[in-house]
Amino acid sequence: MKKTLLVSNPEIEKEKFDLAIQYLKDGGVVVFPTETVYGLGANAFDEKAVRKVFEIKGRPPDNPLIVHLYSIDMIEDVARELSPTARLLFERFSPGPLTVILPKSRNISGIVTGGLDTVAVRIPSHKIAREILGAFKLPIAAPSANISGRPSPTTFEMAVSEMNGRVDAIINGGDCIVGLESTVVKIEGEELQILRPGGISEEEIKKVLPEGFKVISATGIKSKRAESPGMKYTHYKPEADVILCEKEKIEKAISNFKGRRLGLILYRAEINPEGSEVIRFDSLEAYARGLYKSFYEMDKKGVEIIIAEKVEEKGIGKAIMNRLLKAGGEKR
Ligand code: TXA
Ligand code: MG
Repeated sequence: MKKTLLVSNPEIEKEKFDLAIQYLKDGGVVVFPTETVYGLGANAFDEKAVRKVFEIKGRPPDNPLIVHLYSIDMIEDVARELSPTARLLFERFSPGPLTVILPKSRNISGIVTGGLDTVAVRIPSHKIAREILGAFKLPIAAPSANISGRPSPTTFEMAVSEMNGRVDAIINGGDCIVGLESTVVKIEGEELQILRPGGISEEEIKKVLPEGFKVISATGIKSKRAESPGMKYTHYKPEADVILCEKEKIEKAISNFKGRRLGLILYRAEINPEGSEVIRFDSLEAYARGLYKSFYEMDKKGVEIIIAEKVEEKGIGKAIMNRLLKAGGEKR
């Protein structure tokens, strides 16, 4: 067990906040908030520090990390090329929940990129993340701050529960407003592949692309090679088993699992079951924001089976369904 510095109020506890940034400078690992999920950050130029991130997460070395930057100007420090379309996407959606895969520059170690010749780049919008990046001045390599395979933390409490005693510091930034990870895209010629659906929807991306551009969504990618390396690993699984269910079939599912400790994540279903833990969301945005937190709350209550209502795969709904499917072991 390591002594972890908890910065519960970075706006007021300036000394603690500065100390956490000093830990980053000294090659430490610091959990910090972003608008999507909490990240497990280290100096992207420090191989030793980056190795610690893989170790702490228990992450396979061939699953690359995202490099977080303060601004578009810093992209040239980590990538050898920024195509006009990639630039357009950054200009339109950054700072924000979008990650673009670019050809990596020599500055970035293969440890960060899992041996690939490309680097994932993102400019987060969270106020505290920006303060950290602004003060640190270097790129921060950061995966989500969960142990490999588990749901990502989206609140300070979740981040502390997951990482206290494993990292040098954890910085509070409140509840993440997006709640699901960034959208990861890769551009090849006149084709944009969505490797992971996330905070920016496919519809939004399509609107800004030059005419003639083709968008290939995550599920439409045939070749395994094209996928994000991370997509082949188990993901987002709480302690409880997750079962996806259409609104009409939820009551039937509840009766099938009679006698088990059930948790229900509801969206459109107008049912009022007794004896189960119920979390209800009234919009897709709220569902996305609260999904991992509801996994966490239900695990805390000892729920054995989570029945989660399916949503329409529109807008952020695509990312919600992607995470639910992965949490449920791809069983529809
Ligand atoms: O919202 C987010 O993106 C959060 C916050 C902390 O920024 N980060 C995050 O990182 O979700 P992580 O490591 O949990 O997921 C990164 C995903 C993985 O699926 C990884 O395989 C993929 O991005 N990725 C990273 N570098 C890549 C590359 N060069 N080519 C293709 N996929 C890459
Ligand atoms: Mg992750």
